[in-house]
Amino acid sequence: MKKLGILISGRGSNMVAILEGIRSGVIPAEPVLVVSNKADAPGLERAASFSVPTAVVPQKAFRGQGREAHDRAVVDTLKEAGVELVCLAGYMRILSPWFIEQYPGKILNIHPALLPSFPGLHGQRQALEQGARISGCTVHFVDAEVDHGPTIVQSAVPVLPGDDEESLSERILVQEHRIYPLAVKWAAEDRLRIEGLRVVVEGEEVELPSSLLMPAVVK
Ligand code: GRF
Repeated sequence: MKKLGILISGRGSNMVAILEGIRSGVIPAEPVLVVSNKADAPGLERAASFSVPTAVVPQKAFRGQGREAHDRAVVDTLKEAGVELVCLAGYMRILSPWFIEQYPGKILNIHPALLPSFPGLHGQRQALEQGARISGCTVHFVDAEVDHGPTIVQSAVPVLPGDDEESLSERILVQEHRIYPLAVKWAAEDRLRIEGLRVVVEGEEVELPSSLLMPAVVK
């Protein structure tokens, strides 16, 4: 079973969705570590309630030493725990190229917009400001560019008249909690093949709920 590490900075609701998927036997992975860059992240307690070991690697301790110094400490912690697959779940740090090289094709991220639209902070607010009629969320492999990399799965939601950032974020979050566990399941099963910016899901036919948009061929 793949050893999974999850990186968080905040409440960790996507982390919980993944841990529930593991607990119910849907995701064949062993959650060996949750790392936060913030000591007061509420997600740390939630991880502990699943009996998953936690670690805090505060970026404050590395101030002035550059992004990579902090990343090296995080990766040391992950490697010590034997982590093979990394999920970013509301981890509010940009990974250095060095970090990404340590786990090639093994780092997943979730973003609250249909990438490549609205990368960066506040994807939901950006969609509202743009007047988009449809937004959603994306799980993708992480590459050296921010909120970029091969798309694994997306889910679309309407932007309704009268939406504000909170109501749109809530609607998107429901979908995040559906697609992230799905992507982690495929990754844990070693069924994802990266072809450029496309991802192919190998194996038996995948049955997808109707609002899931697959960017790639399902073979
Ligand atoms: C989510 O909206 C996720 O898409 C974004 O950060 C938020 C994290 O929420 N990357 P949570 O900590 O998983 O509840």
